[in-house]
Parts: sequence; C-alpha cells; structure tokens
Amino acid sequence: MAKEKLTTADILARARKQDAGASSGEAPAAPAPEAAEAAPAETPSVDTAPSAGPAPVKPKPASTADILAAARAGTAGSKPAGAAAKPTATSDILAAARAQTGGAAAAKPAAKPGSTADILAAARGGGAVAAGKPAAGAAAKAVPPKAAATAKPVGERPSVQEMVKAAREGVPAAAQSAPAKPRLPVSAAKKPDAASRRSFLGSAIVWVTEPFMAAWIAMGAIAAVWGLAAARFMMPNMIVEPPSRFKIGPPSDYPSGTVSTKWIAARGVWIVNTDQYDGRNTIYALNAVCTHLGCTPNWLDGEQKFKCPCHGSGFYITGINFEGPAPRPLERVGIRLADDGSLEVDKSVKFQEELGQWQDGSSYVELA
Ligand code: FES
Repeated sequence: MAKEKLTTADILARARKQDAGASSGEAPAAPAPEAAEAAPAETPSVDTAPSAGPAPVKPKPASTADILAAARAGTAGSKPAGAAAKPTATSDILAAARAQTGGAAAAKPAAKPGSTADILAAARGGGAVAAGKPAAGAAAKAVPPKAAATAKPVGERPSVQEMVKAAREGVPAAAQSAPAKPRLPVSAAKKPDAASRRSFLGSAIVWVTEPFMAAWIAMGAIAAVWGLAAARFMMPNMIVEPPSRFKIGPPSDYPSGTVSTKWIAARGVWIVNTDQYDGRNTIYALNAVCTHLGCTPNWLDGEQKFKCPCHGSGFYITGINFEGPAPRPLERVGIRLADDGSLEVDKSVKFQEELGQWQDGSSYVELA
C-alpha cells in the first residue's frame, strides 16, 4: 500500500486525536498504517511502558512550531516536562531523523539530511515509525554509538549542532562534512631540482617585476649614477701630457740638409739640420703648428717645403712663410745639447722669428 504523505495539519490532527484517545483511556482500534505511523500510540520509550494495564498518561504531543523550534534551536529546553517520552520530542526527532537518514543514506547516498525540509520529513517519518513500530523505534533509539558509527561514517553524518546550524543557515550539512581533499605523499609533493630551479627563477622574476621592488631597483640605479657623477665631479679636469722636455738623441742622427719627422706624431716637432737660415750649420726644432689657424702642415721632401693642408700656406725649410694665408713664420722651440751628448728639446719655450728671437742661443744648436 502506497504510503500517504501527511501534511502538518494531518500530523497535528492525528496527534491530538491520539492524545484525546489516550486521555479517555481508549486505545485506538486497529489504526491505519499511516495513522499508526503518525499517531504516537506507543512511544519510543515504550520498553519501559507495560503492554497491559492502565494506559499511562501520555503527554500532549508538541505542535509543529515546537518541533521546528526545537529542531532549529537544538535544545530541549523548550519541550514540556515529560517530553522525553514523546515520540515527537527533539531528541526523538533527531534520532529518528538520523536513523532514517542513515538508512536512507545507505540506500540512497544522495540523501541530504541537513535541510529543514529533511528534518521535518525525518520527524514525520521517524515519528510515525516510532509510533507505529515501537520495537523498531526502540531499536533505533537503542542503537549503540558504535553501531551507529559503523552504519554510516562519521564524516558523512553531521552532528546535531551541524544539523541545527545547517537548518538555521540553510546550508546542507553534507556540504559542511564534505571530505577533505587527499594530500599528496611527501615524496610525490617533493619536486625535482630542475623544477625547483624553475620555480625559484619564476619566483625571482615575479619578485623583481613587482611594482614595489621595481621602484626600489630604479631608485637604486639612479642613486648609483648620481654617486658616480658626484665622484667624477670631485676629480680635477686635467689632461695627461708628456713632459715638455725630452731627449731626441745625438746630433749625428740628423744629417745636414734634412728634416726629421720622427717626432711629429709623439711630440709635434720637426728636427731640422740646415744652414740655409743664416749660413751657419745649425740644428733647431720647429713647432708643427700652422701660424694661420693651427693646422699641422706636412713636410714635402720633394718640394723642400712645409705645406699646410687646411688653407695652403707654405713654409720654407727654415720655417719662413712664403705662400698662403699664414701671417708669420713657424715657431721654434727650445733645444740644447745635454751633458750626455744628446739633444734635448724643451717645448715650454718658443721663439718667434719676427720678434728676433731666433737669434737666441736656446733656439738652436750650432754644429762644428
Ligand atoms: Fe694653415 Fe690655414 S691653418 S693655412
């Protein structure tokens, strides 16, 4: 026979009817299965009630509001005295709900015992079972904790507090008691060295590309540049030049009637041995700077003249200008015969022909 679904009104009506019959000393005669399940003819604690004799005074079943309030509050403080014997007491409801949901879970793992509707359905079904089948109800109540634990894993069956909390929050208790994700074993979680290096490099790249760290790196680079600039500013600006005095070897290295370009690149002077200036055989040093605008002329041995490549000024072997824009002769620098017999040039002193300074003995070395 199909089980009739009882509404709350039906449960209340039958509970009141049952309560009225109990108070009048009349036991319900052969109640319908649904009514037997709904009406608490015999309480789950019937194991303590005699099967014959005067019917005990049964407490008035709690109203739906009480059931819901007790289920939500999870406390038995609101139940009336003697409610422990009622099949609709909170503990009985929860026990029946647990037993039913446990069995239902074994048959249908998808059952959700945590919602209010589930609690009410369990209360209706459990209460009916407890009323109509006291032995089963008693057995359900008498299920030892270990047996209950073996009937359903602890992780899948929520506790009373969890059910009440879920009923209050509307969150399924099964979701709260979802099993945690299994952890990988330590050996599997440990990465190889290459992966660790990649992870380290990736972390370093992420760390460097963080805006805050990038700003610090940029500030450090700017500070370093400014520090180097300040250090360079503290250093004096000086040009490292060779000493103005230098020896060029003995006079025999410079044959008569020749111009030596040996020291042009290093010292910027020509060493001339000639007698064309004043008839005396002398050696002198000409400064390789054009008197026009300062270019370096070239010695043209075939033409026996100095020719400036810039504007075409020309100078004789003596240094006297004869063509081009150069306004005056080339300048001589100091030269003398050192004690060791070498010629020593001193560029710190200059002699100008137009000023008569070429007559100075320091501007030439007279050969015998
Ligand atoms: Fe030598 Fe002008 S610089 S001619």
